[in-house]
Amino acid sequence: MQWTSLLALIAAAPYAHALLRFPCSQLVTQRLDPLVTPGVISPHVHQIIGGNAFNFTMDPSITFETAATCTTCRFKEDKSNYWTAVLYFKHSNGSYMRVPQMANQFVGSPNGGMTVYYIQPPNNQKVTAFAKGFRMIIGDPMLRSRTLQSGSAESNALTFRCFSENFGNNTAAPGGGADTVTLPKGACRGGIRTNIYFPSCWDGKNLDVPDHHSHVAFPQGNVQPGGLFFNPGSCPSTHPVRLPLILYETVWDTRQFLNMWPTDGSQPLVYSMGDPTGYGQHGDYLFGWEGDSLQRAMDTCTDQGGQPESCRALTVQSDSQINACKQQPRIDEVVEGTYLRELPGCNPVQQGPGTATMINDPACTAGPGASQPAPGPTTTAAPQPTPTTTVVTPVPSAPQGPTVPKYGQCGGTGYTGSTTCAAGSTCQKLNDWYSQCV
Ligand SMILES: *[C@@H]1O[C@H](CO)[C@@H](O)[C@H](O)[C@H]1NC(C)=O
Ligand SMILES: *[C@@H]1O[C@H](CO)[C@@H](O)[C@H](O)[C@H]1NC(C)=O
Ligand SMILES: *[C@@H]1O[C@H](CO)[C@@H](O)[C@H](O)[C@H]1NC(C)=O
Repeated sequence: MQWTSLLALIAAAPYAHALLRFPCSQLVTQRLDPLVTPGVISPHVHQIIGGNAFNFTMDPSITFETAATCTTCRFKEDKSNYWTAVLYFKHSNGSYMRVPQMANQFVGSPNGGMTVYYIQPPNNQKVTAFAKGFRMIIGDPMLRSRTLQSGSAESNALTFRCFSENFGNNTAAPGGGADTVTLPKGACRGGIRTNIYFPSCWDGKNLDVPDHHSHVAFPQGNVQPGGLFFNPGSCPSTHPVRLPLILYETVWDTRQFLNMWPTDGSQPLVYSMGDPTGYGQHGDYLFGWEGDSLQRAMDTCTDQGGQPESCRALTVQSDSQINACKQQPRIDEVVEGTYLRELPGCNPVQQGPGTATMINDPACTAGPGASQPAPGPTTTAAPQPTPTTTVVTPVPSAPQGPTVPKYGQCGGTGYTGSTTCAAGSTCQKLNDWYSQCV
């Protein structure tokens, strides 16, 4: 079965619309977030796809055509970066293993990564591609509960699907059907997919704003049955410019953990920011298509199945080409491939329902070069490893002005910027390299 026939299967598709649907393989997994914590190590691990210009900082004026020499995405022109938090499996002995990502259905054989959609509005509404330097975030890593209004865009934007074997139970559009806003309760025999929809209306002015999301908004009105995928809604007057609707699908391969799943009904999965609920799910988008390539694709690629090969305006890369684009982690710490004693950054698991708090853990050994595989069931405190001096020293890029915005860096080895936090936040030491306004 092709994706297009799957789409046809999706009952009650009320609106026909064009889209691009394509895989991007894994670029790198590490504690960087150039949007929220530019220039420094992020408090939690992200998995990143897209162009290899990704770095500690991503200046809005970056010239992707030359800064990125390859991309893990199917379209050669797409040097954007897309990232989300990472799931870990918490073993009953307390150790954590990163849950790998697997290839989605009908995308070829990318090495992990995500499936990205650029969905056009139905009924031939005009869609405007993102402007150079545009970036945005959906979701909040500190949330552990949410009050969601049924039918609202927010209640449909960040969801999970529990697959039975071989993508069984995949008969509704992402975010529709039986998808949940929390991590599925039980073990999912075929893995778990997260669906992340971004707002698709722009204020037409700001490429980014301090909170990274109020320059965009969801279309007005309640979401149609079937979810945001089929949403025709019009944009509010405050955010009149209709953007492509961006959707990330990440399929977490939980299959290797099934025989270790707790039998007491507890949830062993935890997001890298210490979230076992799923309410802290978030996605970051940093636009980086070359020239006017995305606008050309939106104007001329009208395949309602979104097959990459049908979009002649763009250059399709093979699986081997996208899988060959890789980046070495810029931070010297182990975050995957082995059981870890702590979540990188020493994020404690915070169940909520209150908003999670950033914990200042001076004993955390998960700084650069110090996050080690779990050493076995020792209970006495191990001596702190001496930080190595060969790690990449992040160049602080926090504003040099009088106040540092919330979540910005306010201290740490080598940091020379302001140590005064914006009202409502205080500077807390996370480790020797990084203090943050929280
Ligand atoms: C779908 O999921 C439910 C519950 O998770 C399960 O009982 C059912 O057998 C699944 N259906 C298919 C076709 O896999
Ligand atoms: C926990 O169990 C895993 C899987 O058997 C093992 O690899 C890991 O070393 C264990 N961790 C501890 C602290 O015993
Ligand atoms: C990435 O950032 C680091 C630190 O700011 C810098 O030294 C390095 O040259 C950058 N790498 C690339 C490829 O831009």
